[in-house]
Amino acid sequence: MRKKTIHDIDVRSRRVLVRVDYNVPLDGGGAIADDTRIRATLPTIRYLQEQGARILLCSHLGRPGGRVAEDLRLAPVARRLAELLDHPVRALTDCIGPEVEDAALEMEKGEIVLLENLRFHPEEKANDPAFAQQLARPAEIFVNDAFGACHRAHASVVGVPRHLPAVAGMLLHREIDVFARVLQDPGRPFAMVSGGAKVSDKLGVLDNIITTVDVLLIGGGMAATFLTSRGCAVGASAVEDGQLDWVRHLEAKAQSRSVKLLLPRDVVIAESLDADAPTRTVPVSEIPDGWTIADIGPAAREDFAREIARCRTVIWNGPMGVFEHPQFAAGTRRIAAALASLDGTAVVGGGSTAEAVAAFGCADRMSHVSTGGGATLTLLAGQPLPGVEALLDAEG
Ligand code: 3PG
Repeated sequence: MRKKTIHDIDVRSRRVLVRVDYNVPLDGGGAIADDTRIRATLPTIRYLQEQGARILLCSHLGRPGGRVAEDLRLAPVARRLAELLDHPVRALTDCIGPEVEDAALEMEKGEIVLLENLRFHPEEKANDPAFAQQLARPAEIFVNDAFGACHRAHASVVGVPRHLPAVAGMLLHREIDVFARVLQDPGRPFAMVSGGAKVSDKLGVLDNIITTVDVLLIGGGMAATFLTSRGCAVGASAVEDGQLDWVRHLEAKAQSRSVKLLLPRDVVIAESLDADAPTRTVPVSEIPDGWTIADIGPAAREDFAREIARCRTVIWNGPMGVFEHPQFAAGTRRIAAALASLDGTAVVGGGSTAEAVAAFGCADRMSHVSTGGGATLTLLAGQPLPGVEALLDAEG
């Protein structure tokens, strides 16, 4: 990594402000539905504790719109973190002001506090300089371990580094390293599996990745727009008409670069995307009016799995269907299994793709499962991450 990391700076006994991404999914009752993002920060926190640092953690949770939202307080996250560390974590009621400054002064070596949700202040998203200065004031060093938030030019991501020596934590370091290695020097053949609902969410990624990969497999809801551009009728599936020209352009680019761009040749269709809707499996040339593509079909699953098996590097971003409902999950499950048994490097993007591999129990058989959603897309699109740019450059 061409940026300084936590291992390049003396953190012993220092007050260290650590930006983490504890934007965890909550269930209907406000409990933490998935603690992966909390677990992912444990190596950095444990290292800081070993060094006797005084640790001030800060994060956003949800999108409270610059106001206090009781259901988006970070206290439940502090409790979960304390359980995981088997060490007390004190939750504060604000992220700036006298409570934070007093706590920082009183802290013993190895002690941990979690500041309140940064986005309770509108100044966080606005990257307000005075707010960034207030955040920085109680600390001597800034560590960014919030890979998932690095695409946001917010005060806690890019403002604080103006006031403190700023370095990458271990999670951020690993994420950046994995993507750099895979994008710059992939083992070949190199494939990307792209899915999810909308082509328009993936324009930057596909435009960039088509210049690097040998194989591009397209599934999920976005396949409907690709199939339409090839002249297939896709029933009631959502088609982004405004992207048809762009899709044709991508297909031409793939052809001129000898990239194998594969679409599903059969699909699971349904009368609606409800969990119990009637379904059928049909070739893509026979999708009836009124039916919607809900998953890739059995022949497509095997086509895709075969392509994956002959690759040495695969990046996967976006589910193949509405995997949350068991009757539409087979395509996503098959891709997860194919990546899990890959003889090579299997990298899974964050967000719903990470949720899928966790749901199918194969996350620990992947080379890397990213904690970032938007941040991963930014990297795959070949764009810089403002949160990384803001860190100190490595020497040499
Ligand atoms: C994420 O979940 O992708 C990050 O925490 C960023 O959240 P945001 O999209 O609300 O900025």
